[in-house]
Amino acid sequence: MSIRHFLRVPDLNKTDMEGLLSRTEEWKRRTRSDLLQGKTVALIFGKPSTRTRVSFSVGVHQLGAMPLYLSEQELQMRKSESVEDTARVLSRYVDGIVIRTFAQKDVEDLAANATVPVINALTDDDHPCQALADVFTLRERFGDTSGRKIVYLGDGNNVAASLAEAGALVGMDVCLSLPEGCDLPLGRMTAIKALADAEGTRFWVERDPEAAVSGASALYTDVWISMGQHQDAGKVSSLRPYQLNAALLAKARPDAVALHCLPAHRGEEITDEVMDGPRSAVFDQAENRLHVQKALMAHLIGGEPL
Ligand code: CP
Repeated sequence: MSIRHFLRVPDLNKTDMEGLLSRTEEWKRRTRSDLLQGKTVALIFGKPSTRTRVSFSVGVHQLGAMPLYLSEQELQMRKSESVEDTARVLSRYVDGIVIRTFAQKDVEDLAANATVPVINALTDDDHPCQALADVFTLRERFGDTSGRKIVYLGDGNNVAASLAEAGALVGMDVCLSLPEGCDLPLGRMTAIKALADAEGTRFWVERDPEAAVSGASALYTDVWISMGQHQDAGKVSSLRPYQLNAALLAKARPDAVALHCLPAHRGEEITDEVMDGPRSAVFDQAENRLHVQKALMAHLIGGEPL
């Protein structure tokens, strides 16, 4: 086994990532398996979800196991019981835990005290399963991603951070095009730059979106106000020049694709024309959540080698 839990993209090394992407190709062709027959996977959700909840539920079912949905609001966790004790108790019942919550530390504490694999299904800091689906989608479109450039436009959030890490592991140069005030925390920027340097790729910030997208193979955006954040008119105003629209896409490479993790606020961070256009890969990304997460669970819970 290469990894025990999947909490952040850098839990994988380059070899793990390549193995996981290869396995994903196989799982995409395979909708039924008894690999996890008789097992149960807990799905803890403390935030809303469409794609993550459904793709994990369906994926667990397709692997032969039972998905057990648990609303975080209805659990004792953090109310009358610690995250640590929740991990110890759930480990006596289930064979794996998928969790979407707020603090990355809670996911790390859960994993540190669980005796079964834990998978991060989004925290305020990270969205690693999304990033796996994103780089798999780019591999489907381009084959070899080495040396290609991806530009993330908009707000520096969990999706941007995990994407930048995954991009480095598949040999891509990653540019964040963000206004002042929307940057990732400095410590995270430094860590991603170190990862990119170690992988021989580039990672940088370019404030000018038109300059950023020149030579890019993929333009990626996400909502400007993330889950749990308050509406901020000043922030939205500063983000308007970073909208993923046809004019911006025309300045990228002719084969460039448009990406969005969804849900999208059409007319804000992305236009209908781009999202529904021939260069959009957004619904492939959504579908690929299912396949990449099946490969991940087959490894972590089913013991399938990467
Ligand atoms: N992209 C994503 O995580 O979607 P959901 O919030 O619907 O799960």
